[in-house]
Amino acid sequence: MVFYENALALNEVSVQLNPGEVVGVFGSNGAGKTTLLNTVAGLTLVYARREARRGGVRVTVAGQVRLNGEDITGWDVPERVRRGLVLCRERHAVFRDLTVSENLRLGGYLRSRAEVAESVAFACELMPPLRRLWRKPAGMLSGGEQQMVAIGMALAARPRWLLLDEPLLGLSPALQAEIVRVVGEIRRHGVAVLVAEQYARAVLPVVDRGYVIESGALVLSGTRSELASQAEVQAAYFGGSWASARTHP
Ligand SMILES: Nc1ncnc2c1ncn2[C@@H]1O[C@H](COP(=O)(O)OP(=O)(O)O)[C@@H](O)[C@H]1O
Ligand SMILES: [Mg+2]
Repeated sequence: MVFYENALALNEVSVQLNPGEVVGVFGSNGAGKTTLLNTVAGLTLVYARREARRGGVRVTVAGQVRLNGEDITGWDVPERVRRGLVLCRERHAVFRDLTVSENLRLGGYLRSRAEVAESVAFACELMPPLRRLWRKPAGMLSGGEQQMVAIGMALAARPRWLLLDEPLLGLSPALQAEIVRVVGEIRRHGVAVLVAEQYARAVLPVVDRGYVIESGALVLSGTRSELASQAEVQAAYFGGSWASARTHP
């Protein structure tokens, strides 16, 4: 459960991510997707402590985060990252003044040089434009390119569990398809992915299971085909043209 001041942002939402899975978290703007991912990643704790020091917004976090059965609720972000729990934040969170190469290396700041070199090479193999853009400041790149940098930074941290917050936001359908392909490849390399999106349709082809949250509460969960067959989900999250959408990559 997460309270911001007196507003309940998440209530009794329980999600599970198993090894090798891609799991979706769907819900409209303000549903609580980011709060959920930030809480799993440990960022909500950082935010809560900072606000408490400043005497700002009162943030209350209750409930539990478990990793491989271990209670990691009180762990800080770097501890979680070292264990392979890595968040790629929404709106292509990159350092705009730093080059692509600098951004990627920063993503792996908790890992050894050799590990970062290996995972950055993997990121470039998955997303070839990164090589071409290597020396450019990230702030000069298009939204899609910045999203690739952001995902590359997360990969540099060598995730075993990767949390992706709205990776498709603001991208053209072609770029969305490209990012969806990348998510499938990341999973193929043994990384479990929890991906939050407002609209399920574009990511559904790579999703094994999904949850739908509204106003901080779980309204639906199921496998890809179960979600796809729910009329209300179709209406709210897939738009009218669901019938013509592809369900397989
Ligand atoms: N830092 C914050 N301080 C206060 N309220 C917040 C903060 N972040 C999010 N909220 C509120 O919590 C709710 C969930 O937001 P969020 O998790 O960002 O949803 P989503 O990612 O699904 O759009 C919203 O009502 C939002 O206004
Ligand atoms: Mg969000």
